[in-house]
Amino acid sequence: MSNSRSYAEFFVPESEAASAARARAADLGCTPVGAGAATALTFLAAAVTARTAVEIGTGAGVSGLALFAGMAEDGILTSIDIEAENQRAAKQAFTEGGIAPGRARLINGRALEVLPRLTDAAYDLVLVDAAKNEYDQYVDEAIRLLRVGGILAIDNALWHDKVADPTQRDADTVVLREVGRTVREDERLVPVMIPLGDGLLAAVKKGL
Ligand SMILES: C[S@@+](CC[C@H](N)C(=O)[O-])C[C@H]1O[C@@H](n2cnc3c(N)ncnc32)[C@H](O)[C@@H]1O
Repeated sequence: MSNSRSYAEFFVPESEAASAARARAADLGCTPVGAGAATALTFLAAAVTARTAVEIGTGAGVSGLALFAGMAEDGILTSIDIEAENQRAAKQAFTEGGIAPGRARLINGRALEVLPRLTDAAYDLVLVDAAKNEYDQYVDEAIRLLRVGGILAIDNALWHDKVADPTQRDADTVVLREVGRTVREDERLVPVMIPLGDGLLAAVKKGL
């Protein structure tokens, strides 16, 4: 990593609760958002004063803590994960981070089964960070869930430097590259690729 890249990645120091959650994530084998992407998520949640957010892929709670740090004080995070053990770790992280228990609505289940049950145009921010091969379907659901002016955030959009390299053709890389193209070309979205962490693709949903 270049000096500037490293400076940007760690520009805002992580909280103790987030560092502890990152350590538990390593024990559980679920990779959290990078430090810089976490900072960007806090920024995005604060920019729209998010009161309602959906997270696809709770993990051990690193991204959830980042979202809570930017959301309105009474904001509710609906977070979906297939692994109950990961969500238990996230719950611990939220407690350690001083998040009131009623603010985290943790739903255990397959994202593609849970998402259709959530209300259209009811959310200020949606973070996509679960099964890479399902990202295209998560993005369709996320656009439906977002209100006009709401923010879509997609982690791993650069996927270990492979998305930008056309010679990389494994299945996950192909899906992530295709999702990037879809988001860039969707007239309902105003996108930006933020090269922090493993790449955070963000977009604002426009009113048409
Ligand atoms: C990369 S980790 C999420 C990390 C978390 N966003 C963070 O930064 O702390 C991906 C998570 O997605 C979950 N997951 C994988 N496939 C899933 C699916 N089909 N539905 C719901 N969750 C899934 C995994 O159990 C894992 O906890």
